[in-house]
Amino acid sequence: MRELGTKPQNEIAWRRPSWPLDLWLHGSEGEIMRDLAGKTAFVTGGASGIGFALGRAFVDAGMKVMLADIEKDALAIAVENLHEFGADVRGVACDVAASDSVERAAKAANEAFGNVHVVCNNAGVGGLGGIDNISLENWRWVLDVNLMGVLHGIRTLLPHIRAHGEGGHIVNTASMAGIVSAPWLAPYGASKFAVVAMSEGLAMQLKPLGIGVTVLCPGFVRTRIMECERNRPDRYGSKQTPDPASPAGALVAQITELVQSGLDPSDVAQRVVAAIREDELYVFTHPQRREAVEKRFAAILAAMDKAAMP
Ligand code: NAI
Repeated sequence: MRELGTKPQNEIAWRRPSWPLDLWLHGSEGEIMRDLAGKTAFVTGGASGIGFALGRAFVDAGMKVMLADIEKDALAIAVENLHEFGADVRGVACDVAASDSVERAAKAANEAFGNVHVVCNNAGVGGLGGIDNISLENWRWVLDVNLMGVLHGIRTLLPHIRAHGEGGHIVNTASMAGIVSAPWLAPYGASKFAVVAMSEGLAMQLKPLGIGVTVLCPGFVRTRIMECERNRPDRYGSKQTPDPASPAGALVAQITELVQSGLDPSDVAQRVVAAIREDELYVFTHPQRREAVEKRFAAILAAMDKAAMP
């Protein structure tokens, strides 16, 4: 077992003469990790919703699982529930917005189970309202959890995965809101677009090392995401509730209903496990959103075509 934070042994793979342009243009592949049994997964936001379902799917795949979450009581219950399906499940308190907290949680996973192979940077919170009336504290909260939280997971565990050399996979939870923009969703959309961009770049960077990257872009899933204020630390100010009579308020009511009637998180988790085994970059769960994606790209391509005109 190699300790967290030790220097990568296979750093040499980074120094190929034509890297990175050659890689970007032509691609290149290392060996991917298909066999998950006996490996270890680290899942942030693992006490609820999609994170908990990921934990369950990993246990079913014969993996050891560390759930990391800010909500301690829910975490204890989640671990207890997963123990019904497998013995190698632990929980660790973790605030993904704080890099040292993620480092401590990753160390706990390392100490409990040895090398970590699959990292799910999944913890997330919502943020609704008009762009001009969302407080700066609210912006910071959403970006700190949804974007910096993903970054902290990657920065903490990627050197470890490179060092142990047993292969690995990073799963970053974005959203359809990271592919198609929506009004009154500014901090959330900004954070999720950033996670998609970061994942795409990381996938190219890690391909030669055989470390996979998946970016999960679900539509509405039946979870507690609309109750995310339960996890807002005091340092980010008080809860902001849009006026129910405002367009943003109406959107909250609409989204709450859509989440309540959304996809079962276990269906999302099954797709993620399959994507890890097949080394797929994108996971979408709602094919009915295809039209919205086509519309966005058609508008972008039309604008590019205009640039080509004399
Ligand atoms: P959820 O609220 O059921 O689960 C989120 C988990 O993240 C909770 O256990 C919560 O305690 C934890 N968490 C929140 N802040 C944290 C922090 N600072 N540090 C550590 N853990 C923290 O919601 P859900 O839906 O399962 O959310 C998981 C991810 O899925 C999020 O990134 C969310 O943005 C994304 N997503 C959810 C969709 C949905 O319709 N539910 C759709 C698209 C994306």
